Amino acid sequence: MSFRIQPAAPARPNRCQLFGPGSRPAIFEKMAASAADVINLDLEDSVAPSDKDSARANIIEATHDIDWGKKTLSVRINGLDTPWWYRDVVDLLEQASDRLDQIMIPKVGCAADLYAVDALVTAVERAKGRSNPIKFEVIIESAAGIAHVEEIAAGSPRLEAMSLGAADFAASMGMATTGIGGTQENYYMLHEGAKHWSDPWHWAQAAIVAACRTHGVLPVDGPFGDFSDDEGFRAQALRSATLGMVGKWAIHPKQVALANEVFTPSEVAVTEAREILAAMETAKAKGEGATVYKGRLVDIASIKQAEVIVRQSEMIASA
Ligand code: COA
Ligand code: MG
Repeated sequence: MSFRIQPAAPARPNRCQLFGPGSRPAIFEKMAASAADVINLDLEDSVAPSDKDSARANIIEATHDIDWGKKTLSVRINGLDTPWWYRDVVDLLEQASDRLDQIMIPKVGCAADLYAVDALVTAVERAKGRSNPIKFEVIIESAAGIAHVEEIAAGSPRLEAMSLGAADFAASMGMATTGIGGTQENYYMLHEGAKHWSDPWHWAQAAIVAACRTHGVLPVDGPFGDFSDDEGFRAQALRSATLGMVGKWAIHPKQVALANEVFTPSEVAVTEAREILAAMETAKAKGEGATVYKGRLVDIASIKQAEVIVRQSEMIASA
């Protein structure tokens, strides 16, 4: 037990983050018109080295010219192990419009990675007098990232969200898979001769959620590569939501509606949560700390569980 109150994560919807390569400006308007809460224009791995400069220019122009509505607008910069990242930060901070909300830092391995980017961002912000201070989001996608996940979650006051990047994570961990998230054929238990598939991403996800919740950061599930597999996406997203994550990436527009559906608390769930709160109010009035709802125990902890669902639903409705 700690006397400190757990800090709240930013109160903004983050059900779906739609990605698009900065080198493909023809889709920017479509991204802006989508139902995603967050837009991630990419300078990193979906952009070939020869296109880095033009992609940067495309993105800067798009922060001025395109109406991004109420979406959180984020740009994924190149990793700190590349020759491009400092130019990404300096050009974005100097030349992008104040509509740019966030920078996504990939492949973070320790809190000092955030410190380094923060120092550069802060200097350019001061020099330019930007009115919308840049927030950060990070991707945990390496062995070092997951080993240092807690210090990373505490690494900068600018940090708002943290995603699991399944593909790079799998590579860095030496996992025997080329899949991007989802069920892995060889990760099963045998019981009486039958295979039961388990979830190889579970531990990393739970570690990310714990670090994020400790430090008031939004935990997000990353990409699901097979965009022709709607049921696979839904199953992965439902597991992530159950573990406490607030949203998931879309690497194709057809995944946006799936993510929004899973990460918006359903009417049934919200009604049940409100009924639990009402049952506890009645119990409290009778001086009881616990009562029975639909044949099961509910107590003071149930109030907090129910409030998570109600708060999330109200926050999304008011956004
Ligand atoms: N955002 C918005 N619209 C998109 C889009 C995206 N990321 N990707 C494709 N579209 C549009 C297409 O322009 C097309 O529009 P149209 O119907 O008006 O012609 C429509 O959606 C269907 O596209 P489709 O033909 O199925 O896909 P594609 O072959 O054009 O592109 C990908 C497929 C995977 C290459 C593309 O979706 C993509 O680049 N995704 C993001 C990759 C990325 O950013 N990765 C980094 C993070 S892991
Ligand atoms: Mg990656």
